[in-house]
Amino acid sequence: MGCEALEREILLIHERLGDRYRNTFTTDPAEIQRLVEEISSSVEAPEEAVRCYVYEYLSLGKLTPFMMDDNLEEIMVVGHGLPVYIFDRIAGMKETDIFLSEAEVRRLIDRIARHNGRKVDSQTPLLDARLPDGSRVNATLPEVSPRGSTITIRKFRREPLTIVDLIRFGTMSTRLASYLWLAVEGLRTKPANILVIGGTASGKTSTLNALSAFVPENERIISIEDVLEISLMHRHWIPLETRPPDSEGNEITMDDLLKNALRMRPDRILVGEVRGEEALTLFTAMNTGHDGCMATLHANSAKETLSRLTSHPMNVPKIMIPALDIIVAQKKQMEGRTLRRRIFEVLEISGTEGDNVLTNTLFKQNPKRGTIEEVLINGRYMQHLSSLSNMSLREIDEELRRRETLLEVMARKRLRMKHIHEVVQLYYRSPEAAVEKLEGFVMGDRPRKKGWLDL
Ligand SMILES: Nc1ncnc2c1ncn2[C@@H]1O[C@H](COP(=O)(O)OP(=O)(O)OP(=O)(O)O)[C@@H](O)[C@H]1O
Ligand SMILES: [Mg+2]
Repeated sequence: MGCEALEREILLIHERLGDRYRNTFTTDPAEIQRLVEEISSSVEAPEEAVRCYVYEYLSLGKLTPFMMDDNLEEIMVVGHGLPVYIFDRIAGMKETDIFLSEAEVRRLIDRIARHNGRKVDSQTPLLDARLPDGSRVNATLPEVSPRGSTITIRKFRREPLTIVDLIRFGTMSTRLASYLWLAVEGLRTKPANILVIGGTASGKTSTLNALSAFVPENERIISIEDVLEISLMHRHWIPLETRPPDSEGNEITMDDLLKNALRMRPDRILVGEVRGEEALTLFTAMNTGHDGCMATLHANSAKETLSRLTSHPMNVPKIMIPALDIIVAQKKQMEGRTLRRRIFEVLEISGTEGDNVLTNTLFKQNPKRGTIEEVLINGRYMQHLSSLSNMSLREIDEELRRRETLLEVMARKRLRMKHIHEVVQLYYRSPEAAVEKLEGFVMGDRPRKKGWLDL
């Protein structure tokens, strides 16, 4: 970038602009570009110097070019005298040749904290916050990270991953997607309670988000997260965010928000990440008739999930576990030189026997091909659904196939979020109209000539 060489020019721009951009802070690539153009037209300076000025004073300094790179998932400052690391969507973790001084990192952390109306200092050396473009960010000070202040940015995707993306990336099959579609909607009688589990950055939140698109639009959705990540097209959706303790120790926890959400007459509760006492509140809700709850949980297997749920600090009594219907287990793995997220197992809870929680495996990963394959569909959940909806298992299977065909076509046509939403929601009112609408889309959502691709 060579901004160091332009130090004098940058200072001159800063002097000329005075206070004009004092309160501006942006990490959004389009907004950064717009500011460069706006400032270039108002002060006489080389465009490169203006760009450096915007990076340095109005954005994230040397980290800004990474924010503008769409191929990155994560940006990591790991400590003083160490290079910045980036996580590439395809190649995974990479070391860069960018170094930030401790003072530079602190300046950025202060800027981020100020933007979030927060303070970080030796008393509160941890920060969970959001960047102006919606990215999730965590920062730590040397009080807790002795190798120097750190910054971890999970970059926001302008368009969140959709069910079509997950099918196209091989994260799930169309068959599994159609099963989960049915489970999320529950034929309007029994939406499933679903947990998406996996290790760090395995794609749990993205899968939860993609599945939430199947919630019928006339249902009232309340989501609860530490930092807002869920992003839906539903209008009747209330996202709630926790608040960390302030100087007086006042805090609003996941559990506080969940208890509050239960007083808001929710049809759907989505929980960003269950990890503490809110687990018991969530399972109490599920056990008292709140269906269609969906949450993510950090665990590497279904077995680990059950043991985490039933021990401290979640403390969910075993007897309450069967209110959970389905566990979707996901992982990230390198396949050759490509990083992939795969759902490797889908289980349902089938009951308890003495001290054991019983499960059925519904889908399992084929170890040779990596893909997910059906093992058993008509387990406890489907049978329950069949008896509640007055549809035979055969009729439900036909419905599954219809939705699978729709998903196949959506994936083939690479439908984007907005149009997936339209087709899915229309399907609930009129499957025929949804098919017709889908026929009207071509690759990349452009309108098309009639008769191009028929179902
Ligand atoms: N199925 C997928 N295929 C490819 N990339 C994905 C997939 N799912 C998620 N990603 C990408 O991986 C990164 C992590 O995704 P996500 O935030 O959903 O994971 P997570 O498991 O919720 O992470 P955390 O443990 O930090 O909460 C994001 O950059 C996201 O865009
Ligand atoms: Mg997550």
